[in-house]
Amino acid sequence: MSFKTILVVVTLAVVAFAAPSKHAVCSQGRVASNAACCKWFDVLDDLQTNLFDGGECGEEVHESLRLTFHDAIGFSRANPKAGGGADGSIMHFAETETNFHANLGTDDIVEIQRPFAIKHGVSFGDFIQFAGAVGVSNCGGGPRIQFLAGRSNTTFPAQDLTVPEPSDSVTKILSRMGDAGFSPNEVVALLASHSVAAQDHVDPTIHGSPFDSTFSTFDAQIFVEVLLKGTLFPGNGSNPGEVMSPIPGELRLESDAAIARDPRTACEWQSFVDNHSLMVSRFEAAMAKMAILGHNARDLIDCSEVIPVPSKAKSNSAVLPAGKTMADIEGSCRNARFPTLSTIPGPATSVAPVPPS
Ligand code: HEM
Ligand SMILES: *[C@@H]1O[C@H](CO)[C@@H](O)[C@H](O)[C@H]1NC(C)=O
Ligand SMILES: *[C@@H]1O[C@H](CO)[C@@H](O)[C@H](O)[C@H]1NC(C)=O
Ligand SMILES: *[C@@H]1O[C@H](CO)[C@@H](O)[C@H](O)[C@H]1NC(C)=O
Repeated sequence: MSFKTILVVVTLAVVAFAAPSKHAVCSQGRVASNAACCKWFDVLDDLQTNLFDGGECGEEVHESLRLTFHDAIGFSRANPKAGGGADGSIMHFAETETNFHANLGTDDIVEIQRPFAIKHGVSFGDFIQFAGAVGVSNCGGGPRIQFLAGRSNTTFPAQDLTVPEPSDSVTKILSRMGDAGFSPNEVVALLASHSVAAQDHVDPTIHGSPFDSTFSTFDAQIFVEVLLKGTLFPGNGSNPGEVMSPIPGELRLESDAAIARDPRTACEWQSFVDNHSLMVSRFEAAMAKMAILGHNARDLIDCSEVIPVPSKAKSNSAVLPAGKTMADIEGSCRNARFPTLSTIPGPATSVAPVPPS
């Protein structure tokens, strides 16, 4: 090969390599890796302003994050008819799916989100995962979840009983989640979502009661507070799926309590207590997997750059709520000592319901 030929080959190679680059400048000069991602910047602006109250981590964010799970988990390796995974079926067939017992309360956010998806001409499956990823990025210390676009807008309803209930045993939950492709450790990681969560339907007499005392920040507090000795029911006594909580106003799910103490999951649970960055990276990985259940990543376009970068966590470790001591921790991991946590000074903690926005 002459020098000239080599030069031509190299030049051609460079051109060929450069040609498929789809870098695009989108609205407000924002840059996307692929022109197909540009429209998601416009969806982002609309959601932050008109759904998430200007970029807050409030009720609509919590509900949108929950919806990513309830749509996606309609999926089974053993039974392809159980559902299409993260396919938007909970929005397409809302009258069917939101009436399943485990989905109680999801109808609100489905109806609120639907007009946004239609307005922007994006599939319901894409929209639900996008809204959850954007929403949780508003929470302090939050994750930055991968976002792949291009899910089909055509699908079929999921069957009932794909979504775990808080009254289910750990064995039943791990087996259902395993059938969808998740390991016990990944189930624990996904439950970091309950750090920004509250309930309306387990005990309907205490609307908006949170699962931990810092429900507007995506921190490891949930992993400590679920391990504290339960002392009270925050509302009108015991309900199915509820066990005693350690703090007035806080509701503890039976499933969270059991998973925190089960030998199959207790060590992963405990590992997050003083390691926020570990919790976030494991959550991001498990959420990325969940968001494409029923799809092949190769068929989708990576538009992750559209997801905002969340603010940093204030601390890498959770704390003991005021009024609690290390003796209140029901540490359940046999192979590692429970980390020593500092206690917030002041009078015993109690929590107020999530304010409706
Ligand atoms: C593994 C078993 C799980 C069970 C049994 C469970 C159960 C529940 C229950 C009973 C509620 C309260 C709903 C209400 O009464 O309004 C809730 C809320 C919530 N869940 Fe889960 N969950 C599980 C996993 C997940 C996962 C994987 C996610 C991840 C995205 C998630 C995200 C949420 C969020 C964000 C809320 C708060 C919703 C709000 O504040 O409006 N959950 N969960
Ligand atoms: C997706 O399907 C719904 C009907 O279930 C429809 O209202 C919506 O316009 C469709 N969106 C797209 C982008 O095709
Ligand atoms: C609270 O529970 C009691 C029984 O334990 C029941 O009679 C009462 O109606 C409940 N109150 C509300 C507001 O649900
Ligand atoms: C957090 O977890 C990572 C990964 O296991 C580990 O490398 C790091 O040392 C941990 N940090 C703390 C503060 O324990």
